[in-house]
Amino acid sequence: MGYERIGLEALRDKVMTAQEAAALINNGMIVGSSGFTRGGDTKVVLKAFAQRAKNEDLKITLVTGASLGHDTDAELAESGALKKRLPFQVDTVLRKNINTGNVLFIDQHLGETAEHILNGEFKIDVAILEVTEILEDGSIIPTTSVGNNVDIAKSADKIILEINTSIPTAIRGIHDIYKVEDYGSRTAINITSCDTKIGTEYIKIDPSKIAGIVFHDIQDMAGDIVPADEATSAIAKNIVTFFEEEVEAGRLTKELKPLQCGIGKVANAVLGGLEHSNFENLVMYSEVLQDSTFDLIDSGKMNFASASSMTVSQECYDRVINNIEKYKDKIVLRPQAISNSCEVIRRLGIIGINTSIECDIYGNVNSTHVSGTHMMNGIGGSGDFARNAYISIFVTASIAKGGNISSIVPMVSHVDHTEHDVDIIVTEQGLADLRGLAPRERALEIIKNCVHPDYKEELLSYFERACELRGGQTPHILEEAFSWHTRLKETGSMKK
Ligand code: COA
Repeated sequence: MGYERIGLEALRDKVMTAQEAAALINNGMIVGSSGFTRGGDTKVVLKAFAQRAKNEDLKITLVTGASLGHDTDAELAESGALKKRLPFQVDTVLRKNINTGNVLFIDQHLGETAEHILNGEFKIDVAILEVTEILEDGSIIPTTSVGNNVDIAKSADKIILEINTSIPTAIRGIHDIYKVEDYGSRTAINITSCDTKIGTEYIKIDPSKIAGIVFHDIQDMAGDIVPADEATSAIAKNIVTFFEEEVEAGRLTKELKPLQCGIGKVANAVLGGLEHSNFENLVMYSEVLQDSTFDLIDSGKMNFASASSMTVSQECYDRVINNIEKYKDKIVLRPQAISNSCEVIRRLGIIGINTSIECDIYGNVNSTHVSGTHMMNGIGGSGDFARNAYISIFVTASIAKGGNISSIVPMVSHVDHTEHDVDIIVTEQGLADLRGLAPRERALEIIKNCVHPDYKEELLSYFERACELRGGQTPHILEEAFSWHTRLKETGSMKK
């Protein structure tokens, strides 16, 4: 059944069922689990725990890398098993429970969760980690993500391992496991290019902490690949044109700079746009490897990609997992404390491309809250990159919900990324280059280039009246600043 994947023979008597492993988790515990945007998530023990919680009063705090697949978050939320969840999620059922207050959610920079674990804010009681094998000394090899596994394992009192036999052990070698030292003895994270490897192929753990081993052969849940539409293709085209102009101006070369791209349809369209461009020898230093990354690698446009996880369609998953040797010198998966390390992002000079729900006329960005109150997914790693990138780009369609919502508003109803972290805003209407501009200049650039025609005149009028009536460094008419959101609530549309 795969016992040969347990190199440390003494551990073979720890093999148990998912239900037996789930019984090791007690009410009130802090549980740390592998999983980052569906990649490498635990697939059976948390589900068995959700089943248990249907009949018992059980509530845990769950810390992961990012979102989980296979409806695990939904099942945990539905069975009332979650007291608190961090640092990211994308599940509709969990989202509903967060927004009704049933589940408390900590929306955290993905690069910082490991610090909070290290600092003892979240002392992990039980870790559940997906691995391909356990080595002779008890070290473990992760699967399709690394996430926060290193710090979760170190902090945990007990470790449950899920050995996924659907992933070939040949995956060993695509990970670069490095753990930052404690404060006081911490040195530089010595990554000087995307392909620098500074760590080991395995995660070193204390084998005496291993309390259970569960086998399964369940693949990662396939990513949803939404094909590019008119709006996302136009956004991608605007970005490619901007890159071409930067090359002409001598600020970029045809290799660009290491790319970071958020997940989703826009990100995929942007990377897809690069496939048919003149750019070459591209590299990526990001969080998630998506289909578009592997397409760029296969077409010879991209030389190397570094991330913490891979989340791809079924077709791409099969292509990569069945040909893992081919990709070993082209990709690396790192702990998210390293893929999202501010120090490394700043050193490498990254072009960060992330998505917003809404932006305001000065370039503040809301990536997380609908109408200022309701959580969508979370900030993810967008803030790690936006603050430290060489160029920080935010993309959004200019309108949402059939045109009833303008994605550019007088004042954002929640702020994730302040004007100080936002260099470029792109919609299908055009691109606003905000570098070197003061707030009043930024407003005109955004209104001129990014706003949908249905909302342009009113937004310009708001800005001009704010300058005239109130003035200041960042003119606003405070009693009117949220009138678009209020109108949406009252009438179902931001339109007058
Ligand atoms: N007001 C209300 N709803 C809005 C909106 C706005 N201004 N703009 C978009 N939406 C809605 C859309 O209508 C859509 O709703 P639906 O699911 O009911 O159709 C939903 O938000 C998603 O928008 P969509 O246009 O499909 O874009 P997306 O799938 O690319 O998601 C974000 C956009 C911002 C929600 C998503 O990218 C995200 O969560 N980002 C934050 C995390 C991040 O940046 N991660 C990257 C590094 S990990």
